[in-house]
Amino acid sequence: MYKIKTVSELQSVLKQVQNQGKQIGFVPTMGALHEGHLSLVKQAKDECDYVVVSVFVNPNQFNDPKDLEKYPRDIDRDSELLSTVHCDLLFAPGIEDIYPEEDTRKFEFGALETVMEGRYRPGHFNGVAQVVSRLFDYCNPDKAYFGLKDFQQVAIIQDMAEQLNCTVEIIACPIIREDDGLAMSSRNVRLTQEQRKNAPVIAKTLFDSCNFVSKMSVEELRNHVMHEINLTDEFKVEYFEIVDGKTLQGVDNWEDCNYIVGCIAVFVGEVRLIDNVIYKKR
Ligand code: PAF
Repeated sequence: MYKIKTVSELQSVLKQVQNQGKQIGFVPTMGALHEGHLSLVKQAKDECDYVVVSVFVNPNQFNDPKDLEKYPRDIDRDSELLSTVHCDLLFAPGIEDIYPEEDTRKFEFGALETVMEGRYRPGHFNGVAQVVSRLFDYCNPDKAYFGLKDFQQVAIIQDMAEQLNCTVEIIACPIIREDDGLAMSSRNVRLTQEQRKNAPVIAKTLFDSCNFVSKMSVEELRNHVMHEINLTDEFKVEYFEIVDGKTLQGVDNWEDCNYIVGCIAVFVGEVRLIDNVIYKKR
């Protein structure tokens, strides 16, 4: 596996790869890799000839400086894990490589960004779009892989790719969970033993709530989920929205559209976890 830090080295290697007619798959990450990331790499390996993974903790997408500071970092471990899944190239740039000067671009995502993560983390998606658009420019991939745990991020990146006329195909991949149901996240390592023990309540409540779709109104089900999770010590739901899976706008009735998703953000002590469940997809 190549390990590359600078954009110029990256581009010279990828030029040769493209000249050989190989399809490039790209998995952008912020490191602290887990099985969820590795599943993206495996899918990329299955579908493409050459797989690039970037590891860059992007300061522009953190609205909370404490969250940025505490974001777990371990590039040696990441590199070892990537070798196990036969990643071809690890791109681990420094801040000066990605942002040689300040990125002042302002993206417009309309209603997609005024809800959920966009509402509670102002500027977050602008920062995501800034870094992902740069990484797409540098890697020029055929396909890029994103996990559906970040449901809204996938919608934003699809929109960004359309706005910028990127030729890259955005591949949305399923959430990978621990055996007890907890959605895999780099933030899970920050949970205390007690918090980790209780954390599966989020997924369990979401999964159980699927059985209530025919019995409760949208509003009742929403209140029920929030109430159940808030009962757990140190758990505080920041939002739970039941939305149209395409527009991300809240729905009032189960009949409102054909694709309905419940998206949640929960503070577990100081650690913020997100997850989602599909209620309806036709
Ligand atoms: O999902 C993430 O890890 C990040 O938001 C991404 C897409 C790598 C951009 O920094």
